[in-house]
Amino acid sequence: MPIKIKKGWELPEHRATPEDIYMNRRRFLAAGSGLIAAGALSACDGEDNMIAAQAEQSADPSADLYPVPRNELFTLDRPLTAEEDAITYNNYYEFGSSKSIWRKAQALPIRPWTVTIEGLVERPFEIGIEDLLARMPLEERLYRHRCVEAWAMAVPWSGFALSHLVDLAKPLSSAKYLRFVSFENPEVADGQRASWYPWPYVEGLTVEEARNDLAFVVTGLYGKPVPKQNGAPLRLALPWKYGFKSAKGLVTIEFTDKRPLSFWEELQGSEYGFWANVNPEVPHPRWSQASERLLGTDERVPTQLYNGYGAFVADLYKGMQGERLYM
Ligand code: MTE
Repeated sequence: MPIKIKKGWELPEHRATPEDIYMNRRRFLAAGSGLIAAGALSACDGEDNMIAAQAEQSADPSADLYPVPRNELFTLDRPLTAEEDAITYNNYYEFGSSKSIWRKAQALPIRPWTVTIEGLVERPFEIGIEDLLARMPLEERLYRHRCVEAWAMAVPWSGFALSHLVDLAKPLSSAKYLRFVSFENPEVADGQRASWYPWPYVEGLTVEEARNDLAFVVTGLYGKPVPKQNGAPLRLALPWKYGFKSAKGLVTIEFTDKRPLSFWEELQGSEYGFWANVNPEVPHPRWSQASERLLGTDERVPTQLYNGYGAFVADLYKGMQGERLYM
C-alpha cells in the first residue's frame, strides 16, 4: 500500500452441513492435528511454482473440509475474479511490499497453529486451528474486496461468521473493541525484518462491527483451504471496509475497552484510519476513490458507498459525529 513515512521513504504502490461434508470433517478430525508441517517450497520457477503452491494447498490438513455450502444471501454484481489472479496478486507486507509475494509466503508454517483469545472475556483461552474449524459452522460467501489502493476483486471465501467466534469468546460487557494480531516470524517472513514497520500487523473492530452479519473469518478460498498468500490459516473479510482491515495470518484476538491502534494507522494515521469504510466521495489524500480497477480485466468501475454493502452496515455508523469514517 503506498504510504508516506515521516523519514521520507516512499514505498512502492502497490449451516447446516451436508452429510458428505460432515463426514469429511470427522475424517479430518480423526486424522488429528499437525499432519503436515508445511515447509518452504524448493526453488523452482513459474508454472512449476504454481503447481507446487497448489499441491501445498491440497496438502493442507483441512483440505477435506472443502467445499462448504454456499450462503446465498451474499450475491455479486460482477463476475468472480479468476482464481489465478486472486492468488497471485496480493498485499502481505510480512513477505514484502510487492504484489508478487505468493511464492515467498509458502514458507509460512501453518501447522500447528493456535489462536489466543484474551483480554476482556469470561475466560481467556487458546484454541488450535483444527478444533476451531470443527466447532464453527463453515459456509461459502461471494464477496467483493476493495483495496484502498483502488484495485478490487470478487471471490468465494469459505469460513464462518465472526459473530460465532465472538460468542465462543464470551466477551465481558466492558469489551468495546476487538484487536486482531497477525503472526510474527521474521525467520520466514523477511518483510518483518524491516524495522521501520510496527510489527506485528494489527487491526481492530468494534464489538458491534464484529457481530455484524457481514464480518467473516476466512479459512478457505475457491472451495479449498485459503492459500498462505491470502492469509492461511485464518484471516478476516470485511467487505465494506478497505482491504487493509482484513488482517491475515491471525494468531491473537484481544477484547479490549481501548480502540486498537492498527498497523497502518500507526505508520501513517493521516491516510489510514480506524474505520476505513469504503466511500467513493472521500478521496485518499493522494488519489481518488471514485472508481476501482478489477483484477484480471483492468476494467474500471464506479466505487460504491460501503462497497455496496450499505444495507448490512450503514446503521452501524448512524449519528457518529467527529469520526473519520471513510479513511
Ligand atoms: N494482513 C497482514 N497480516 N499483512 C498485510 O500486509 N494487507 C492487507 C490485508 N491484510 C495485509 C493483511 C491489504 S492492504 C489488503 S488489500 C488485503 O490483505 C489483501 O488481501 P489479498 O492479498 O488476499 O487480496
